[in-house]
Amino acid sequence: MTMTKPVILTGLRANNDLHLGNYLGALLPIVDLARAKAGEYQINAFVPDLHSFTTPIDHNTLQEQIKQNLKLFIAAGLPIDNDNVFIYRQSYIPAHSELTWILDCFTGFGELSRMTQFKDKSQAIIDDRVSVGLFNYPVLMAADILLYDAEYIPVGDDQTQHLEFTRDIAERMNSKFGDLFVVPKPVAEQHQFFNKDQGLRIRNLQDPTKKMSKSDDSSKGVIFLTDTPEEARNKIMGATTDGLSEVQYDYAVRPGVSNLLDILSLLGGDKQAFIGQTQYGPLKSAVSDKVAEFLAEFQSKMAAINERDIWHKLEESEFLLRNVTLQKLYKVQQAVGLRSQK
Ligand code: ADP
Ligand code: TRP
Repeated sequence: MTMTKPVILTGLRANNDLHLGNYLGALLPIVDLARAKAGEYQINAFVPDLHSFTTPIDHNTLQEQIKQNLKLFIAAGLPIDNDNVFIYRQSYIPAHSELTWILDCFTGFGELSRMTQFKDKSQAIIDDRVSVGLFNYPVLMAADILLYDAEYIPVGDDQTQHLEFTRDIAERMNSKFGDLFVVPKPVAEQHQFFNKDQGLRIRNLQDPTKKMSKSDDSSKGVIFLTDTPEEARNKIMGATTDGLSEVQYDYAVRPGVSNLLDILSLLGGDKQAFIGQTQYGPLKSAVSDKVAEFLAEFQSKMAAINERDIWHKLEESEFLLRNVTLQKLYKVQQAVGLRSQK
């Protein structure tokens, strides 16, 4: 089987509860596109389960987390009844790991050492070893993308460097071995495609100079998708702003307020209505209402999901993609001399 539509692909790592930043940065763009244009594109939404223990996790909960992430795609509105939409688990498609090894051998040690996420995440590990898996993580991510010739990859701003690496390794392999891979679109073009002027980076509510992240020390600045609407409301009302007393959208001077404006508008609210106001209270209330409403609706969708439907789609996608990726892997194996050219 050959697949001919341009591929849009994203992965949601299953290593902890997901938060509003994950939802707005990675989940919403692909779901919006899938709903609007699934006929024109192939949509691959997957759980990169092999990525999930690049940093230490509780392995007893991994199965549950994987299931949870798959449900998140559905609750966010991914139309799994569409034949152009695929959902799958990375470890069920062995070509991901095999391609990673091959790409590893064309990747520079220095190149991976420069990845800021590796530096940040490795520094955050205090009482455990920093694994080679964490170091190698961008190569597995590149394999995830190149195996399917994906062109558009909606991810948050923190993954930009990994996307650039993916483009580099694709170009390197193509120039050495001929046209093996479709090179993903340049990052600026991707932003345009997803209607953004830059990569999205929802900030921590307590410290808006930092991104909202599931590994943050305190959960006060992070809205988890499992928070009750009341918990979320309290977190937003307690969000750090500034002493400037004027609502303006400007991350350089007013990161806290700008973050609230972004959250409001991404959830469908009208941020323009608040620009120029001299009090922050009304903006915080409006954001609280929007987020509370969003969470209540999202959680009721999660609860209503029929797991049997997901399982059926999952197995069907994995079966199909196993074959498609084997063809791609074979082409690469031939190029590097592991299989005869015929
Ligand atoms: P975390 O930093 O919370 O561990 P991950 O690294 O697992 O999150 O990211 C999962 C996806 O969500 C990635 O596409 C990532 O770019 C996106 N993402 C994570 N945090 C944010 C954020 N604060 N704003 C926008 N997108 C984000
Ligand atoms: N690295 C991504 C993250 O930490 C998850 C991921 C793995 C991914 N493989 C991918 C995202 C391929 C997009 C495409 O969030």
